[in-house]
Amino acid sequence: MQLVEGEREEILACVKEVLGNNSKTRENLIPILQQVQKKLGYLPALAMEKIAEGVSVPAVDIYGLTTFYNQFRLNPPGKHQVKVCLGTACYMVGGDITLESFERRMEIKEGETSPDRRYSLDRVACVGCCTLAPVVVVDDQVEGKVTPTRVDGIMLALEENGESPGEQKSGTEEDGNNGEN
Ligand code: FES
Repeated sequence: MQLVEGEREEILACVKEVLGNNSKTRENLIPILQQVQKKLGYLPALAMEKIAEGVSVPAVDIYGLTTFYNQFRLNPPGKHQVKVCLGTACYMVGGDITLESFERRMEIKEGETSPDRRYSLDRVACVGCCTLAPVVVVDDQVEGKVTPTRVDGIMLALEENGESPGEQKSGTEEDGNNGEN
């Protein structure tokens, strides 16, 4: 993904700081990657290249690690982060169809961020609201019973207002069945 203005400098400074605070050994790769991700919100390719140089390991080893462990995020978080639950209860009532609906609407795949960084889409395990399945977390707001129709409503709210549906004062959801009191 293309870097935004000033991001290159931010990445270089972050990697330099983290490498300065850790011994540059292969054994420390995971903590180094974790610290960089914590600061930047994700692991840009440039950061991985610089870490590889700093620790003197092939860049391919870093890519291997970050793709093996799903704790690592290779795309920047979007302004709006949509997380679709694919835990058992949600999956059983169509969570995968909900995810596909978001993928179509956002024109990205699960795990990706839209080129303008407006949206990121991820799958998550059970978020503890199984009675509301299928569940989606839009930014920090839990949305329940998210059928493809509700996906349209959620996306419209995000597109038109730039807000998560739960942030709106006057509801625009047609079925009012989103688990809010
Ligand atoms: S399985 Fe989705 S909230 Fe529990």
